[in-house]
Amino acid sequence: MTGSALIQGASRGIGLGLVQALLARDTDSQVIATCRNPERADRLSELERDHPGRLQIFRLDVQEEGSIAEAARRLIEEGVELDLLVNVAGLLHDGAMQPEKKLADLDPDHFRRAFEVNATGPLLVAKHFHPLLRHERRAVFASLSARVGSIADNRRGGWYAYRASKAAQNMGTKTLALELQRIAPRVLCVGLHPGTVETDLSLPFRRHVPDSGLFTVERAAQQLLSVIAGLTPDQTGSVLAWDGTVVPC
Ligand SMILES: NC(=O)c1ccc[n+]([C@@H]2O[C@H](COP(=O)([O-])OP(=O)(O)OC[C@H]3O[C@@H](n4cnc5c(N)ncnc54)[C@H](OP(=O)(O)O)[C@@H]3O)[C@@H](O)[C@H]2O)c1
Repeated sequence: MTGSALIQGASRGIGLGLVQALLARDTDSQVIATCRNPERADRLSELERDHPGRLQIFRLDVQEEGSIAEAARRLIEEGVELDLLVNVAGLLHDGAMQPEKKLADLDPDHFRRAFEVNATGPLLVAKHFHPLLRHERRAVFASLSARVGSIADNRRGGWYAYRASKAAQNMGTKTLALELQRIAPRVLCVGLHPGTVETDLSLPFRRHVPDSGLFTVERAAQQLLSVIAGLTPDQTGSVLAWDGTVVPC
């Protein structure tokens, strides 16, 4: 992959893995990593030192539209063109916020936070960053989704806020893909399910996941980049899993 790639939500987990994989892949390409606290993103700072001139780090919090607009403005000013933008930031649990086991666990504040990060965030990023993807080459705008956001595939219930926010994210992806087909037909827009990956997000919930179904961050990043590389125009608007199969919405 040539040109610049931007990974939104790159401080740890799959986002950091994608930055590492992109830097290892191609010695010419530029990588832009965004995160909400660059001063605390030690691994990203190390990568910036290890790959001089190839990695830029920007502050971006998807719950603060001003920070999204400011990062986009600075990159537009620099004349950056993106071949790939991946929204990785996601929220399942955080302290007292835990996925609901039953209706009685519902908390409107947790619902709001899940929607802001998982559903509204990628669309606000699209709102401010789409000019950077509009050039003469093919470009990909991807958002990490989750199979549990599939309404058709929901067999176990629970996890109301995460499921609903990821389902809303998938609707946002489809709606955005339709708009981009009209205004920027070279930009493909997809959701991606990474599988179950060894990160902080999955840590409390993977007791019953067999080893064969659990991916390292490195493997997950390679798998996602392979799916992205193989995308065809007819797949825009869909959600694809780590193995390239379609996740029903
Ligand atoms: N891991 C899995 O098994 C799995 C399975 C299915 C789908 N996914 C999806 O894959 C994506 C990445 O998951 P992960 O496992 O890598 O999660 P993770 O290890 O928990 O990392 C979450 C990332 O999101 C960032 N983030 C959270 N709130 C943010 C905000 N308001 N603005 C900007 N960044 C924010 C975090 O930044 P800080 O460091 O600042 O907190 C962190 O970089 C998520 O969208 C998740 O839903 C993961």
